[in-house]
Amino acid sequence: MQGNKTEMAHFAALAKSWWNPRGPQRILHKMNNMRMDFINSTLGPSITDPNQNTSKLTVLDIGCGGGLLSESLARRHYVQSVLGIDVTPEVLAVANSHKLVDPKLTNLKYELRSVMDLESVKQSAEKPTFDIVTMFEVLEHLDDPKEALKLAMSKSSQYVFLSTINRTLAAYISTIALGEYVLNIVPPGTHTWSKYINATELESYVLGSGVNSESIWDVEKLQGCIYLPGTGWVRFDDQSNYSTK
Ligand SMILES: C[S@@+](CC[C@H](N)C(=O)[O-])C[C@H]1O[C@@H](n2cnc3c(N)ncnc32)[C@H](O)[C@@H]1O
Repeated sequence: MQGNKTEMAHFAALAKSWWNPRGPQRILHKMNNMRMDFINSTLGPSITDPNQNTSKLTVLDIGCGGGLLSESLARRHYVQSVLGIDVTPEVLAVANSHKLVDPKLTNLKYELRSVMDLESVKQSAEKPTFDIVTMFEVLEHLDDPKEALKLAMSKSSQYVFLSTINRTLAAYISTIALGEYVLNIVPPGTHTWSKYINATELESYVLGSGVNSESIWDVEKLQGCIYLPGTGWVRFDDQSNYSTK
C-alpha cells in the first residue's frame, strides 16, 4: 500500500517550496524546533548531554518529506546516522539537493520507499533495526495507519517518535477549513479528516495486541500541541499529537 494518490500529488506540488520558511510548509518549519525539543527532553541528558554520553544512535525517519527533521537529527552529536524514506519522488529530490547545502551532512541518506515496504530496510547487514524511528505527520495520510505503525515499530530497537492530527472539530477547522480553503496554506485535498487519529486510538494501536504482540512497547509520553497564529506552536499535556516508547 502507498499513500493516497491525490494527497501524494499535493506533496509533489509542495516539493519546490518545502524549505521556504515563509512558504506553504511554514507550519512544519515552525513545528520542527518543538519536535526536536520533545525528542531531546524524552531522551534526556544521559543521551543528549555530550558530557554524559559519547555513544551515538541510528535513526530511521519515515515519510521524511523534504528533510526538515532528518537534517536536524543528523546534526545532533548523539546521532550516528539518519536514513530518511519517503514515497514521493519530488520531495525526496528536494531533500537530496538541500542536504548538499551542508557538506557536514555525510551521515544522512535518503531512499525512495513506502512505509509499507520496510521489510528489507536495515541499519546494516548485522543490525536489522534502528535505535530511533521517527514518523511525523505521516499516519494521517495513510490508508492503514495501524499496519504502518506496526511496521515502523518493528524497525526500532528503542524509541518511536511520531505525531499525527486529532480527529476533532478544532483540527478540522484549523487544518482543512482554514489551512486549505480560507488561508490557502496548502492545496485543498492535502488532508482527509476521516483519516485523522485521536490520541486514545493511537495509544490503543501502540499497546494493542496486533502491534505489540510481545508487550514490549509502552507509551512513555503523550503530548498535545496546537498552532496559534501570531503565537506559534504551543504544547499542552492532555490529549496528544505525540507518542513514544
Ligand atoms: C506532511 S509531510 C511530513 C514530512 C516530514 N515528516 C515532516 O514532518 O517534516 C507527509 C510526508 O509523508 C509522505 N508519505 C505519505 N505516504 C507515505 C508512505 N506510504 N510511505 C512513506 N512516506 C509517505 C509524503 O510523501 C510526505 O512527504
